Amino acid sequence: MTPGLTPGLPQTGRTTEDLLAELARMKEGDLPVRGGKVTAYVYDTGRPGVHEAAARAYAEMLEVNCLDPTAFPSIVEMEKQVVGAVADLLGGGHGVFTSGGTESIMLAVKAARDARPVAGRPRIVLPVTAHPAFHKAAHYLGLDVVPTPVDPETFRADPAAIAAAIDDDTVLVVASAPSYPQGVIDPVAEIAAAAARRGVLCHVDACVGGWLLPWLREAGAEVPAFDLSVPGVTSLSCDLHKFGYAPKGASVVLFADPALRRRAYYASAAWPGYTVINATVQSSRTAGPLGGAWATLQALGREGYLRLGRDTLEAARRLRRGVGAIPGLRVLGEPDSSLVSVAGSAEVDVFVLSDEARRRGWFLQPQLSYAGIPANLHITVTGATLDGVEELLKVIEDSALAARERGPVRLPEGLVEAVAGLDLESLDDAAFAGLAAAAGVSIGAGGEDGAAPEMATVNAVLDALPASVREAVLVRFLSVMYS
Ligand SMILES: Cc1ncc(COP(=O)(O)O)c(C=O)c1O
Repeated sequence: MTPGLTPGLPQTGRTTEDLLAELARMKEGDLPVRGGKVTAYVYDTGRPGVHEAAARAYAEMLEVNCLDPTAFPSIVEMEKQVVGAVADLLGGGHGVFTSGGTESIMLAVKAARDARPVAGRPRIVLPVTAHPAFHKAAHYLGLDVVPTPVDPETFRADPAAIAAAIDDDTVLVVASAPSYPQGVIDPVAEIAAAAARRGVLCHVDACVGGWLLPWLREAGAEVPAFDLSVPGVTSLSCDLHKFGYAPKGASVVLFADPALRRRAYYASAAWPGYTVINATVQSSRTAGPLGGAWATLQALGREGYLRLGRDTLEAARRLRRGVGAIPGLRVLGEPDSSLVSVAGSAEVDVFVLSDEARRRGWFLQPQLSYAGIPANLHITVTGATLDGVEELLKVIEDSALAARERGPVRLPEGLVEAVAGLDLESLDDAAFAGLAAAAGVSIGAGGEDGAAPEMATVNAVLDALPASVREAVLVRFLSVMYS
């Protein structure tokens, strides 16, 4: 490296126009965040004015630091409004505004761990369909996870299996409303009652459904009670950056009582510097997402969310009916929300179908087989899906036909065994990248000449591996991507 030159840092400052032009170039390969063709990751209202209001409020709050609410009272007023709106809709409680579902869950797990000291290592009992954020929280906070099976037809948690798994070291039981993989609501009342009988806390993960299900119910869908009004439910997470349509970095965790919320807080006076008192994992933290979430709620209002709810419900119904009529495909379970999971067959490989859809400009999220649930494609139906639902169905039908013609992924003989037998500890990132390339997988590169990347082989290999090996390979994948 030339002395004085740092890659990524120019010698002299650049103009805003220049920077934005480069940013636009870097984003050229990104999936589009508007328009409804990306059926995971992004949530589009189809109303540009709402997102514009959120972006401006986000920018307005960008430099405000949530580290010290006494220095910036605006954040207290704003957070009280946002958390209050979520509590009003979801059975009351006392909340914290967090950066996302994972952080909300992390705080709920910390509160449960600290509220209920146990003799052994604390445990979380959850259904296998619960989000990995619970495994991550357990990993970070020193708990064990006890997974329980779900019904093989409905994909809902089994309350009896959960009740049987609770022991003296259990500090938290989990139900999802809905679970992400198949979009079904677990039997919250029975699970919460089983937890309460043993004096154990119960968290409802409504990250994806909290700000959706009440509007679907109002629009005519049958939605069972799932929130803090259900006896035995002690905490709940609800992401506003999902069906609240707020910019990313916005979630709320609610606790049934203020004493439990205090268990989520953290204070430290063990140094000679400023006083540390945090409600969240982050300490210094931009108030941008809070401003963005506040503005989105205000810009849409009850009527806006209800209209989005109606459109979402209608789109999800048409999608389910349409997919059910495509040969070789079936919808898994009977989704209670607007998340739809589509399984293939011996003739139609869902991983190939996903690549085919991507070529046609649509992103359908592959989900690997797990715990007896087959590989499938996940589609999150949002308010913006309705306008394009017939086009989406046509893309799925055409892609299924193309996948049928191409046939399922055929992995080179011995490849899966070779990957499973790799001693990853003895391989550096370059050697791993070389092996992947030899197997036809180029890590970190998009498709040739901007074409959509082919992921079917990667997904088929991962799908054939046990979860622990999948995890080790995925960590390697990420490491190589950033090297
Ligand atoms: C049910 C559920 N819980 C938790 C999460 C994690 O949320 P985040 O990605 O905001 O951390 C998700 C994300 O999709 C989810 O669907």
